[in-house]
Amino acid sequence: MKTYKDIHAHSINDPEDFWAKQAEKIAWFEPPATVLSEKKDGTHRWFSGGKLNTAYLCLDHHVLNGHGDQLALIYDSPVTGTQRKITYAELLQSVKQFAGGLQSLGVNKGDRVVVYMPNMPEAVVTMLACARLGAIHSVVFGGFAARELAVRIDDCTPKVIVAASCGIEGSRVIPYKPILDSAIELATYTPEHCVILQRPEAAATLIVERDIDWVSLSNLGHEAECTPVDATDPLYILYTSGTTGKPKGVVRDNGGHAVALRYSMEAIYDIEPGEVFWAASDVGWVVGHSYIVYAPLITGCTTVIFEGKPVGTPDPGAFWRVISEHKVVVMFTAPTAFRAIRKQDPQATALAQYDISHLERLYLAGERLDPATYDWLASTVQVSVLDHWWQTETGWAIVANMAGIESQPVKPGSATVPVPGYDVQVIDFDEKQLKPGEEGRIVIKLPLPPGCLTTLWNASDRYIESYLSHHPGYYLTGDSGYIDEDGYVFIMGRIDDVINVAGHRLSTGEMEEVVGNHPAIAECAVIAVKDTLRGDVPIGFAVLKDGAEISEEVLEKELIKEVREKIGAFAYFRRVVVTKRLPKTRSGKILRATMRKIAGHQPYTIPATIDDPATLDEITKNMEAHHICATT
Ligand code: COA
Ligand code: AMP
Repeated sequence: MKTYKDIHAHSINDPEDFWAKQAEKIAWFEPPATVLSEKKDGTHRWFSGGKLNTAYLCLDHHVLNGHGDQLALIYDSPVTGTQRKITYAELLQSVKQFAGGLQSLGVNKGDRVVVYMPNMPEAVVTMLACARLGAIHSVVFGGFAARELAVRIDDCTPKVIVAASCGIEGSRVIPYKPILDSAIELATYTPEHCVILQRPEAAATLIVERDIDWVSLSNLGHEAECTPVDATDPLYILYTSGTTGKPKGVVRDNGGHAVALRYSMEAIYDIEPGEVFWAASDVGWVVGHSYIVYAPLITGCTTVIFEGKPVGTPDPGAFWRVISEHKVVVMFTAPTAFRAIRKQDPQATALAQYDISHLERLYLAGERLDPATYDWLASTVQVSVLDHWWQTETGWAIVANMAGIESQPVKPGSATVPVPGYDVQVIDFDEKQLKPGEEGRIVIKLPLPPGCLTTLWNASDRYIESYLSHHPGYYLTGDSGYIDEDGYVFIMGRIDDVINVAGHRLSTGEMEEVVGNHPAIAECAVIAVKDTLRGDVPIGFAVLKDGAEISEEVLEKELIKEVREKIGAFAYFRRVVVTKRLPKTRSGKILRATMRKIAGHQPYTIPATIDDPATLDEITKNMEAHHICATT
């Protein structure tokens, strides 16, 4: 049997041969003419000339091969007290019908469809119906406020928006329709139609002519067949936070995505068709796209879609119950979810009620798996607990412990080793490769493997500028870290203003834009502070305009409200500190990284470019007075 090292070396030394073999495992309508090609702008494309349909791979292919009666989807919703089990044949039928309905609204290949729905089977049906038509879906996480939805609507100009009438957060019903209506008001672009799935918890008032009922549209009696698309055609756009207020529309292709995800299920997760895979995430995030929807279905697994929380729906035993009841073999979630469970049930007493013997492996990602959470999990579940590192841009893991190739001994704090296809390196500003143990910028030598973003929607220059221009020949991940002498990769943090709040990726720059708009504020900085439950939480530092008369308490209240309304409550922006000055360089750049270190009690060197070193003492004293410090 080949070792991990041999397989990884093959993928780097001869990527075309490596990925041509993986591409044989999916059902193309026409096999690709070229495995890898480079465009004039230095970006790469996989499998040009190949024709396929991703929804066909997810559904028709399995039904045609006699697996129509196998479960495709298990919907487990403690918040509504319902469960539904859907076979491949049933899911295919629903997707054909809804795709037919969308087609009757004029949705065709290349048209965009925004999806604003919580974790429920109809969200999966909508995504697959778009894929069936060759239309490009863009799912927006239900926690985003109207303004965020509007920005996405304006950027991808959808012909149709598909939304649920509400989401349910624990015991709270959150009506989505008013958010959708106000987003359409705020947006410059207007979609032709909105398709609304009416949920009994909060039925919405439909706007005549514009809004259509989801179920009625499905039942028009028109079924759509698969539209063949090029391997390089976009399957979806998924917006993610960058360093500014404008989110980046990550574009995923069809061919590379299908090949990479199929490979990942075998090499990383080591799961067989027919087995149950559960990603406890949200369809609005990349984990939901890749591992609630596409990878399990392309592979012929049964996927679980869970509408609930790790705690409170109804108790910290919810995850153990789902694993036990649905015989989950591989589970995937964010460490913060288990930190929440550990906080409420430190001895994992709830676990004693459930038989989780089917579970073979537990994967964590979205943020660093801190050693304390790893130790708790490893001693609680008695199965392999595996960290792996990836990002919205890549769509699948960059660094992992590959159960399907050769499991490596776990080193807590490390996501383990580079996945085949990824040439991961650590460099300094001048592209000098750093020695084992030296921390620097983590980059991936081009070409990126299949499945990674091909560009940013409507912003190909921004793609190159953000990711490829800093170090020619390399993709800049935005993370820093080091590789040890055994080749293990340790991810230590971001080099930009992206933060991870309870597994949700957000931009502090974007929050600064909201905070800075307050009439009393002259300037501000939002920085991430460590938090034992959420990983990071944002804190705002505000300098008031001369003569502004507002108390810190009132300002804080107003800004919290503003960030909730403009970005969303999940950003967890809950604290504002008024300060006289912010530490800056002589050219006026706020020293956010130094502020982060002060807040985290980490050692720092006074930057040579600092304008006035006394500002560091002032901000330190202010943080101490406000009890701001890292809690991990
Ligand atoms: N729609 C609307 N609002 C949402 C939302 C959604 N989808 N998700 C979160 N919110 C709101 C919550 O209602 C809450 O609002 P409130 O301030 O009015 O109470 C706020 O955002 C914070 O929510 P949350 O971060 O979920 O806090 P919590 O204390 O309820 O739960 C955790 C904490 C850790 C249990 C929860 O954040 C969690 O499950 N995180 C894991 C996330 C995840 O799976 N990420 C991707 C994995 S790869
Ligand atoms: P997202 O695009 O939302 O998936 O967020 C990606 C970012 O989350 C990465 O760039 C990292 O900063 C962080 N991240 C994801 N997984 C891990 C991990 N296993 N260890 C450390 N950081 C991680």
